[in-house]
Order: sequence, then structure tokens, then C-alpha cells
Amino acid sequence: MAEEAVLASLGCGNPIAVADLREGERVLDLGSGGGIDVLLSARRVGPSGFAYGVDMTDDMLTLARQNAAKAGAGNVEFLKGEIEDLPLPDAAVDVVISNCVINLSVDKPAVLTEIARVLKPGGRVGVSDVVAEDHLSEDERASRGSYFGCIAGALSKSEYEAGLEAAGFEQVSVEFTHEVADGMHGAIVKAVTRGDA
Ligand SMILES: C[S@@+](CC[C@H](N)C(=O)[O-])C[C@H]1O[C@@H](n2cnc3c(N)ncnc32)[C@H](O)[C@@H]1O
Repeated sequence: MAEEAVLASLGCGNPIAVADLREGERVLDLGSGGGIDVLLSARRVGPSGFAYGVDMTDDMLTLARQNAAKAGAGNVEFLKGEIEDLPLPDAAVDVVISNCVINLSVDKPAVLTEIARVLKPGGRVGVSDVVAEDHLSEDERASRGSYFGCIAGALSKSEYEAGLEAAGFEQVSVEFTHEVADGMHGAIVKAVTRGDA
């Protein structure tokens, strides 16, 4: 694994472990940064599978492509785009992963709708994210965000669950793993698209 990909990783969890990837699957990482999770996914799904990363930042795409070349990964592609408007066709992947990026989006319903669109029927999402306890007001979340960088816009647990259900997911779960600020948690978020979608 390219050391630079590890060093560039600023995420909050381990989405590879969360998603339980299998040989031959097609995976998409939202906000792929330096590419560590895409490279780990590519290794996990093997040569019959494929891993995409999407990121909106040219510097990160350049770094990720360099890291893929150093790692000799042939089954990866890094695409420029926004997670609110993914540059992939419908039903393109089996699994969507992401590490601490969805909380950064100012349009989370669009992100969840796009995840559902690019997943195959019965596809799954397994992401790490920052999630607020339900009782925190938007002002309280914003005040914690001023201390902890990018977490001001985090959804609450029940907002996340409702958002996934509204986007067409089932088997939704949002589980806190560790507190990152008062009432704000690193969380594992999982859901499955309807098999008949
Ligand atoms: C906190 S870093 C996480 C990078 C990587 N997931 C990791 O764990 O190392 C956030 C990344 O998401 C990208 N990003 C943030 N908002 C985005 C958006 N709306 N669309 C696409 N990429 C975005 C940034 O360019 C950056 O590379």
C-alpha cells in the first residue's frame, strides 16, 4: 500500500470493514481523498471486481492516481465529481462506502438519493460519518463544529435514518462508535436498496 495514501487519509472510521466487501464486487468511495479506501477496496474485491473513487478536488485526484500507480492497482478509477451529482450511471455498483465525507455536504438528501441511484437493486451502503445525538439543535451542532472543524453540519441519528428511508433504503442502521465532541459521534451507517428497485 502506498504510504502516501495512508498519510493523506483524514477520515474517521474504517469503511472497508463496515462494508464487508466480497470478491468480484464493484465499489464506489465517496470523497476518496488520497485514495486509501479505494486501494484497500480494490485489493479486497480482487481483479474480477472494481473500485471507483469520486472527489471534487483536483489535488486529491492527482494524489490518488499517483498512489494507485505506485500500488500497481489496475482495477481502480478516480473520477472528478460531486457526491451530490455522481458521475456514474444508474445501478453501476454493488457497494457504496465513504469515510467522513457525507457530513461535509450541504445537500445530504441529494447525496443519499444519488447513492441509491448508482447502487444496483439489493446493493448496500456502509459508511463512516459524524452523526449528532437527536436532542442537539442545529445551533448546538454548529457550536461544536467551530471547535472540531468539519462536523458542524452533521445529521442527527433519526434524521439520517429518515433520510435513508426517504431515498428508498431498507435495513437502515446508524450506530455510534465513539464520541468526537459533546453529543457528536463517529458512527457506522448501513442500509440496503430494495431488491426490486
Ligand atoms: C475529510 S477528507 C476524507 C478523505 C478520505 N475519505 C479519507 O478517509 O481519507 C474529505 C474529502 O472529500 C472530498 N469532498 C468533500 N466534499 C465533497 C463533495 N461534496 N463532493 C466530492 N468530494 C467531496 C474532499 O475533496 C476531500 O478529498
